[in-house]
Amino acid sequence: MDHFLTIFDLSTEEMKGLLKRAAKLKQLRQEGRLPKPLAGQNWALLFEKSSTRTRVSFEVGVNLLGGNAFYMSPDQIQLGRGEPLEDTARVLSRYVDGLVVRTFGHDRVKTLAQWGSIPVINGLTDLCHPCQLLADLLTVQERLGTVEDFKSAWIGDGNNMAYSWIASAAVLGFTLSLACPSGYDPAPTAMAKAKELGAKVEVVRDPGQAVAGADVINTDVFASMGQEAEAAQRLKDFAGFQINRELVEKANPGAVVLHCLPAHRGEEITEEVLEGPQSAVFDQAENRLHAQMAVLEALARR
Ligand code: CP
Ligand code: NVA
Repeated sequence: MDHFLTIFDLSTEEMKGLLKRAAKLKQLRQEGRLPKPLAGQNWALLFEKSSTRTRVSFEVGVNLLGGNAFYMSPDQIQLGRGEPLEDTARVLSRYVDGLVVRTFGHDRVKTLAQWGSIPVINGLTDLCHPCQLLADLLTVQERLGTVEDFKSAWIGDGNNMAYSWIASAAVLGFTLSLACPSGYDPAPTAMAKAKELGAKVEVVRDPGQAVAGADVINTDVFASMGQEAEAAQRLKDFAGFQINRELVEKANPGAVVLHCLPAHRGEEITEEVLEGPQSAVFDQAENRLHAQMAVLEALARR
């Protein structure tokens, strides 16, 4: 593995290996016995969008593994004044050992990976959010004891998170049913790729149909970062696509409720469900740290 840009790049063995290692690193951290594979290394975080979880879990994760991490937003560096990504990639590669990037177009992380000579980790693009999926599936493993033999329901926008759930279903083989309003389907490229890999993935219009027989119920905000101007229209278009008690009761008993956070209570999910006994959202958020340490360790060049 040279970079970590999308779940589709992983083999089943690689993905299961990362999840297994993430669980082990979680245990080692609790025991105060983490290894230091990043000793002497410097990792840069280049973020063109806001972040709480991704930023902090990467900064802390790099530090826990013995390295140093620092944050840059485009307005603090010449990128924001028009310096090309290709030059930024080559210059940063002369100083740092790895790069975590959060940006808009997925092409931007690909360009940084292509022009630089250091590992690049995708910390979210408009297309996908692979780091989040490792944390989500670590949480599923903890709660259900499997990452292959379960059904997951996705309710709402066919966005970057949906893309990475589709890719994960393709790589691991679990069943995924996505309920999206018309006009908000997931990227056709994700569905086509997943189907080609034999994935058990479907898009339906009825959230009740998606959650029937589901062991995991999952959602995300109606308007992602960069879509603020569409927020009011989306709120109307997503009416009926809320995770609430009534919908949860249609899933398998004890189904695990996930949300990558930040959440908009009362929109895509009710306060009652988010804070309720079936919600695993804060374990899920914590697992970002452990899952990403597994990625950092796998990419660290010595
Ligand atoms: N879930 C997630 O990526 O959160 P942040 O936007 O806070 O990083
Ligand atoms: N889909 C959301 C995820 C945030 C973690 C966004 O892109 O804003």
